[in-house]
Amino acid sequence: MKRVIVTGAAGFIGSNFVRRALETQPDWHLVGYDALTYAGNVQNLAGLEQTGRFEFVHGDICDAPAVAALFAAPVWGLINFAAETHVDRSIHGAAAFVQTNIGGTQVLLDEARKHGLEKYVQVSTDEVYGSLGPEGRFTEQSPLAPNSPYSASKAGADLLVRSYWRTHDLPAVVTRCSNNYGPYQFPEKVIPLFITNLLEGKQVPLYGDGLNVRDWIHVRDHCDALISVLARGTPGEVYNIGGDCELTNVALTHAILRELGKDESMIRRVKDRPAHDRRYAICADKIATQLGWSPRVDFATGLAETVRWYVENEAWWRAVKSGEYQKYYELQYGGR
Ligand code: NAD
Ligand code: DAU
Repeated sequence: MKRVIVTGAAGFIGSNFVRRALETQPDWHLVGYDALTYAGNVQNLAGLEQTGRFEFVHGDICDAPAVAALFAAPVWGLINFAAETHVDRSIHGAAAFVQTNIGGTQVLLDEARKHGLEKYVQVSTDEVYGSLGPEGRFTEQSPLAPNSPYSASKAGADLLVRSYWRTHDLPAVVTRCSNNYGPYQFPEKVIPLFITNLLEGKQVPLYGDGLNVRDWIHVRDHCDALISVLARGTPGEVYNIGGDCELTNVALTHAILRELGKDESMIRRVKDRPAHDRRYAICADKIATQLGWSPRVDFATGLAETVRWYVENEAWWRAVKSGEYQKYYELQYGGR
C-alpha cells in the first residue's frame, strides 16, 4: 500500500480527491489531515473510513510536531490542498492567508524533506498568473503576476516549493488549475452561492459588469488530473490544469437561472471586487501530452448534475449556511 497524506482533505476539492482516489487507486491508503477551519467539514468525508483505506487526523499544517507525527509511518506521497481559498476574504484580512498558504507550506516542505517521500504535490491555482486580456491563455511559462492577497500567498508558496526542489532535491510538483465546481463546494464561491440563494428564494449578487471570464472545470476532472500528477508527474515540473470552458459571469448566471427555472429579476448587480481579475484561461497542453490527461465532463452536464446535487443535499448546505456543520466534528470524534 502507498500511504498518501492529503492535507485540506475536509474541504471541497480535498474531499472529492479522497473519494476519487479511493475509487480509482486500490493500492493507496489515504490519511486526511485538516485543521477544520470554517471551510472544513467532516461531513464531506462521511463514511469513507469504512473503506479501511482512509483515516482522518485533525491538525494544522502550521504545527510542525503534528505534521512530523504523520511521518511516524512511511509516507509515499503528500498532496497539499490545505489553504485559505476565498479571494474576497483575503481582501478583508490577509494574515491567515500568509500564515497557512505560505507558512504552512514551508512546514510541510521541511517535514517532507526531513522524513523523505516519493512525491510532493502542491495544489496551486491559475490566479497566480494574474489577469488576461481578451486573447491568449496561461501557459506554465506565463509570468507570475498575482493581484489579490490570496493569489499572492499561493504564488509565494509555489516559489517556496520550487526552491525546495532546486536546493534540497525534494521531489515536488506544482499544479495550477482553473475554477472548479461540483458537490461539497462551500457556498461562498459563486456557483454554490448562486444555486443555494435561488433555492432559498434570494437574489444572486453579480459583481460589476458581470463580464469577467472564468475557465470552469468539474472537480472530478481536476481530481483525475491530480491523481495522474501524483502517480506520474515529473519532479520539478509545473502542470496547468483547465476545463477548456470559458464563460462570462453573466453567461454562467443565466445558465444557473435556467437550470432552476428562474428569471433575470433574481440578479442583483453589486459593486465590483477590488482588482477583480478580468479573464482566466488555461492552456493544458503540457499535462495532455505528458500525462495523457484531458477534461471529460462537459459543462452543461456537469452544471445540471451539480444543481441536482445541491437540490438533493439541502441538509448539507443549510447546515453550512447556518454554521451548524461546525458541530459535526464533536459529534463524530468527541471534541476538537
Ligand atoms: P476549501 O476552502 O474548500 O478547503 C480548504 C481546506 O483546507 C478546508 O478543509 C480547511 O479546513 C483546510 N485548511 C485551511 N487552513 C488549514 C491549515 N492551516 N491546516 C490544515 N488544514 C487547513 O478549498 P478548495 O476550493 O477545496 O481548494 C483546495 C486547494 O485547491 C487550495 O489550495 C486552493 O488554492 C486550490 N485551488 C482551488 C480551486 C477552486 O476553484 N476551488 C482552483 C484551483 C486551485
Ligand atoms: O481560478 C481558481 C480560483 O477560483 C481558486 O484558486 C480560488 O480558490 C477560488 O475561490 C476561485 O476564485 P474566484 O475568485 O474566481 O472564484 P469566486 O467563486 O469567488 O468568483 C468567481 C467569479 O464570480 C469571479 O469573477 C467573481 C464573481 N462573483 C463571485 C461571488 C462570490 C460574483 O459575481 N458574485 C459573487 O457573489
